[in-house]
Amino acid sequence: MNYPFFSLRALRRSIIAVLPCWFGALSTTAQPQKNTITVQTGLPGKAISPDLFGIFFEDLNYAADGGLYAELVQNGSFEYDSTEQTGWNALSFWELALRGGGTGKLGVKSARLLHANNPHYVAITVEKPGDGVGLANGGFDGIPLKAGEVYEVSFFAHQFFMGRQWSSDDGIKGKPMPVTVRLEAENGDVLAEASWDIAGYDWQHFSAKLTPNRTTDNARLVVLAKAQGGIALDEISLFPSNTFRHHPNGLRADLAQVIADLKPKFIRFPGGCLAHGDGISNFYQWKNTIGPVEQRKGQRNLWGYHQSVGLGYFEYFQFCEDIGAQPLPVVPAGVSCQNSDSSPGMGQQGVPLTELDAYIQDLLDLIEWANGPATSKWGSLRAAAGHPAPFGLKYLGVGNEDKITSVFKERFQRIYAALKANHPEIVVVGTVGPFPDGEDFAQGWAFAKALKVPTVDEHYYASPQWFWDNLQRYDHYDRTAPKVYAGEYAAHDKDRRNTLRSALAEAAACTSFERNGDVVQLASYAPLLARRTHTQWTPDMIYFTGTDVFLTINYYVQQLFSQNSGDTYLATTLSAASPSPTLAVSSVRDSKSGDLIVKIVNGATTTLALSVDLAGLPAGNHPALKIVLSGTDADAVNEDGKPPRVKPERSELTITPVFDYEAPANSLTIFRIKA
Ligand code: AHR
Repeated sequence: MNYPFFSLRALRRSIIAVLPCWFGALSTTAQPQKNTITVQTGLPGKAISPDLFGIFFEDLNYAADGGLYAELVQNGSFEYDSTEQTGWNALSFWELALRGGGTGKLGVKSARLLHANNPHYVAITVEKPGDGVGLANGGFDGIPLKAGEVYEVSFFAHQFFMGRQWSSDDGIKGKPMPVTVRLEAENGDVLAEASWDIAGYDWQHFSAKLTPNRTTDNARLVVLAKAQGGIALDEISLFPSNTFRHHPNGLRADLAQVIADLKPKFIRFPGGCLAHGDGISNFYQWKNTIGPVEQRKGQRNLWGYHQSVGLGYFEYFQFCEDIGAQPLPVVPAGVSCQNSDSSPGMGQQGVPLTELDAYIQDLLDLIEWANGPATSKWGSLRAAAGHPAPFGLKYLGVGNEDKITSVFKERFQRIYAALKANHPEIVVVGTVGPFPDGEDFAQGWAFAKALKVPTVDEHYYASPQWFWDNLQRYDHYDRTAPKVYAGEYAAHDKDRRNTLRSALAEAAACTSFERNGDVVQLASYAPLLARRTHTQWTPDMIYFTGTDVFLTINYYVQQLFSQNSGDTYLATTLSAASPSPTLAVSSVRDSKSGDLIVKIVNGATTTLALSVDLAGLPAGNHPALKIVLSGTDADAVNEDGKPPRVKPERSELTITPVFDYEAPANSLTIFRIKA
């Protein structure tokens, strides 16, 4: 270990502390009655990553469409497809709406496209208008609306002739088509509506503000054509005006806010497996996700549904900027997921080498798009989207959990060489396979070390006990090797529920990240979001429905670490006659506030008597904030519809440099001592 600021005695005590199971016998020499925590507040400490605690967003569990992306219409561009889910088609989640004796039909067309990336649209043929012929959409499990709030409906449309059924003599030609868009309650009541007379045979954009007069969580958006004739429609959309920071094409305010409240230092996106995709044709391609929404190219989400990419790179970067987080986009390392084509572990496909230069150019273009001047080719697109200033991209992930094959290595090597040559300022985050050990892990590390990749991404989903057993993992890492991004981790307890035990195991891991913040540069829990009724993976950090957000106990742990992070680690040692194997501590200083922050995790089911020695702190009383997260597992579980009863409790107090503390059973305690 390379902790130059430790005295030898402190170092020895530290070893006793961090290796309680292995070296428990050694500690019998000191013989204190209690577990004693000593924090060296007077020594300089070691600089640790200021970006340590961030988040990982992946469009899994309907996290994007039907989730963070505030769009309320589902399949508004008529691009759903049977390759995404059996039985899906361009009209999925739409139905024919016939009102007051109207007759007609819906058809899916590709003849005169709004944009080549958007290859289907709907055609309404009105035979007998009645009170209207059209189509209705119930969004994602019903459209939630709030009385008095403003919603913006928009769509593209043009008139069309209906083949040989009508001629210009029918008197239809030249007459506009009256179109009404309504928000309807479950019982058919009209909550708000707007109408247009649509004239012309070229695509035009229409929009209106609608203010529903009643709150409901199960409305439908209904488009009705009200005269004989034909009307083509595409990109039908309904957004609340109240998106996060009121951005157009923005994010769902309540979900974005709880993410912002985590105070993440970075956001990794768009995956995960989603990034490298199910086969190379399923790569998440950033260029398909920018520009006007109707010109973006949606595609199958490998998690078994459709990604509209309405939430695309511009929106991700904008969100990062809004909440003060570094963007950490992850691009495929020129290979697809090894589980592609339903071939577990064997389906990795590589970009043909003849196409690799073009692929690499896409990545260089991404950096220009993010950081280049508004006058540059790609920077100008960012500026056109409303952001002339560079976004300040610093990190770029290349690859995700890839199998470390020769196909991977050849492509990664070329990508990395090009990034290094053209953008030495970018911190490339490589990958070391899906697991925290094993063949890919070992080979991935050896490869990353040989190439001197700045940082590598490690993943671990494991039992709470695994986390406690591995708290020393990073104590032994080579300080001269690539840094670590603990990019996906979660303690999986029984039935993969969000238990207090899992959250405390993660808290313990976070203390080890802080202690090793000179090695662990970044860390993020996974996955972040899950829509109830569309949850494909558990546990997750935040659950939601169309109207509600449910935080978990694991959320609170992440929030507490992120909100109480620091940039200097202070030597923190433990000593005891029989050290608790479920006690983890760390101490940091935050240079902005000057505050000293001590975190104590007691994973035992009994209270733990502690003595805390803040060595070097001047004598006297010091104002402090104490935050305690504790309770029973039963209170902490986030069952359907019920938030956990366990929440962080805050209290103000004064403390002296040496004090006793009874750490509650199953608890995380944070002392934030004011500068
Ligand atoms: O977090 C869910 C998935 O777990 C990610 O997509 C993948 O990287 C990992 O296997």
